[in-house]
Amino acid sequence: MSNFEQHSYGLWLVFADVSYLAGFAGFLPSESAVPSLIYGIHPDVWGNGYATEAAGAVLRYALEQLAFPKVIADVDEPNAASVKVLEKIDMKQTRRSVVKGRPLLYFES
Ligand SMILES: CC(C)(COP(=O)(O)OP(=O)(O)OC[C@H]1O[C@@H](n2cnc3c(N)ncnc32)[C@H](O)[C@@H]1OP(=O)(O)O)[C@@H](O)C(=O)NCCC(=O)NCCS
Repeated sequence: MSNFEQHSYGLWLVFADVSYLAGFAGFLPSESAVPSLIYGIHPDVWGNGYATEAAGAVLRYALEQLAFPKVIADVDEPNAASVKVLEKIDMKQTRRSVVKGRPLLYFES
């Protein structure tokens, strides 16, 4: 809630229907003051397009309504489903690095 007050963004909840909380999507503040996209969906409902729909919606909101020039995201390279989500919402990979032994891919809108 404090992120919504300070930055006009935060984490939104994703409902699969009115009573089924399926996950979340939204932004955390980054060191560079650019919103950093994150999302998570309950394993029971993976593969239904919820992450793609939710991440795409909050991305459009940040760019169009909040007028941020860009949004960033980082993902563990082996997390193929998450990489696919970022590609499907048309974010582009900008670099790769290994942090504490973990390969990370960096994306931006
Ligand atoms: C990543 C995550 C959010 C995806 O949620 P989801 O609602 O199942 O995603 P979607 O259904 O919108 O799309 C997933 C896509 O990845 C694809 N996918 C799934 N597993 C895959 C794999 N092992 N390799 C390649 N692609 C894969 C799906 O086929 C789908 O693509 P398609 O629609 O073109 O077929 C979910 O797995 C999750 O919550 N994981 C744990 C938290 C996490 O990793 N969050 C992201 C980091 S911020």
